[in-house]
Amino acid sequence: IPDKEYDYIIVGGGTSGLTVANRLSEDHNVNVIVIEAGASVLNNSNVTDVGGYGLAFGTAIDWQYESVKQIYGGNSSQVLRAGRALSGTSAINGMAYTRAEDVQIDAWQAIGNDGWTWESLFPYYLKAENLTIPTVSQVELGATYNRAYHSETGPLDVAFTKTVNSTLLSLLNGTFQSLGVPWSEDVNGGKMRGLNICPSTINYQEYVREDAARAYYWPYASRGNLHVLLNTFVNHIELNRTASNDNVTASGVQVTYQNGTVGVINAKREVILSAGSLKSPGILELSGIGSRQVLEKYNIAVQVDLPSVGENLQDQVNTGMSGATTHKVTGHTALVYANAQDIFGNETETISTLVRDSLKDYASETAKANGGIMSADDLEDLFQVQYDLIFKDQIPIAEILYFPGGGNSLAAQYWGLLPFSRGSVHIASSDPLLKPIINPNYLMLDWDNKLQIGIAKLIRRSYETYPLRNLVKAESSPGLITVPQNASDAQWREWIVRHYRSNFHPVGTAAMMPREKGGVVSEHLVVYGTSNVRIVDASILPFQVDGHLVSTLYAVAERAADFIKQS
Ligand code: FDA
Repeated sequence: IPDKEYDYIIVGGGTSGLTVANRLSEDHNVNVIVIEAGASVLNNSNVTDVGGYGLAFGTAIDWQYESVKQIYGGNSSQVLRAGRALSGTSAINGMAYTRAEDVQIDAWQAIGNDGWTWESLFPYYLKAENLTIPTVSQVELGATYNRAYHSETGPLDVAFTKTVNSTLLSLLNGTFQSLGVPWSEDVNGGKMRGLNICPSTINYQEYVREDAARAYYWPYASRGNLHVLLNTFVNHIELNRTASNDNVTASGVQVTYQNGTVGVINAKREVILSAGSLKSPGILELSGIGSRQVLEKYNIAVQVDLPSVGENLQDQVNTGMSGATTHKVTGHTALVYANAQDIFGNETETISTLVRDSLKDYASETAKANGGIMSADDLEDLFQVQYDLIFKDQIPIAEILYFPGGGNSLAAQYWGLLPFSRGSVHIASSDPLLKPIINPNYLMLDWDNKLQIGIAKLIRRSYETYPLRNLVKAESSPGLITVPQNASDAQWREWIVRHYRSNFHPVGTAAMMPREKGGVVSEHLVVYGTSNVRIVDASILPFQVDGHLVSTLYAVAERAADFIKQS
């Protein structure tokens, strides 16, 4: 390391961390260091290969976190993947670039985060993005877009794949028109419902994955004030307090270098945690910021009693179906974003009333599950906001991906976008190298099951609706033998709990909310009780968003960098 003192220390060189590092180091008068546990993956073909989704799973660049046994989810433990590399999870993800529904971001302000609206975030989506405008023939084949929603000047390359192909798309379009779901010209303008093919984080010229490092680090690596320390693990933040009633101040971080030696790197201004939703809360806890109960268990002195650190974990449940087809399926992956009406049809009103009347129970069950750390009243308020998004604003609550399943098969991978179940992530030891205890409480609440079942039934209907019906001979998974046409919800549920996985979208574990409502960071992303520790990563999202996460995380990180510069 050239120096042991920096203005800003960024913990985690992932999706959000590299964005912040880039923007802060635009100012030549400050120096910035990014400390990343993993290595560079610039030339790792498991990363760069545009068609290589999944190749990196289970390799050294995948943290492969594991949940505790999911008592509501088939008693199985689930793998939660996350990238361990410069670029973080953007190095191993599915590269889909889809944002959020506008009112979802407005909801962040509604729960007490002043200034967080779609309108205030939208310029930052644009600031990040550099869209490769699709060719006329790509557009004709389905790569439609609205130029007003995009930018061609940001660092992050976004493009439609070269393999855009309308073979499957036109069948799906016909079928979904019959099912009342429209074609969506562009999902990235704040209204997401419909069938579409979305762009991806791809560098079109080199035709490689555009991960965070390709966008925000490598082109700027020669900046003298931007330092990246690889293969180095941050153990905790060094905190000081001048007077007993003051906020604590971070003076640096303790790290373990690749050779096993332990050292301290000092921060003159701020420490920014960007270690991801499954790791940032643990770093707080190891530093003495968290629930007294958790900290005392591991003999960690309490610096800031902030009970909700690690709570509010929200992930989605992912399940796959498939249909046996008359011939080999070719074509491009297509996405459907469907709302409650699309999924539940005539039953929507009844389900809406049922869920509304259950919110109180959901809140008290959740409060009971988290030992009362989040109060039932606060949870009910949050659930009410989410309920309104689902049933009043009618925002999409399902994402379904249709793609060739290999040979004579059409796959449909799907997830409910807005489950209510919430869990937690906490340290398992005072040893920072030990993996955390993760409990997402998958499928704990009735709505989450109804949602996952409702989407499965919509997919079944799609297989049975012309023109897709011409292609799909029969549903092969689960198939009518396993889950008959008139199956009860219990039968569907049984199949789901045996086959689901994490959707790898954990958020909310250091939620941006007022402190008295169970928040961990303020609307400027400062950790409560500290003067100079911020969190910028997926853990600050108070709710799920409908789109895949990175586009929103890049935008949030761009905005966070402005906050930091302004302060
Ligand atoms: P991120 O994980 O990017 O960064 C955290 C960094 O901190 C990592 O580099 C990690 O190694 C480092 N770190 C952790 N602990 C540390 C420590 N103690 N010391 C030093 N460094 C430490 N999204 C999307 O938009 N489109 C998609 O198609 C998909 N698909 C998808 C597939 C799969 C398999 C996964 C796992 C995820 C997705 N996602 C996705 C989700 C998305 O990629 C993900 O939410 C973000 O990349 C997370 O960004 P963060 O900045 O929060 O953390």
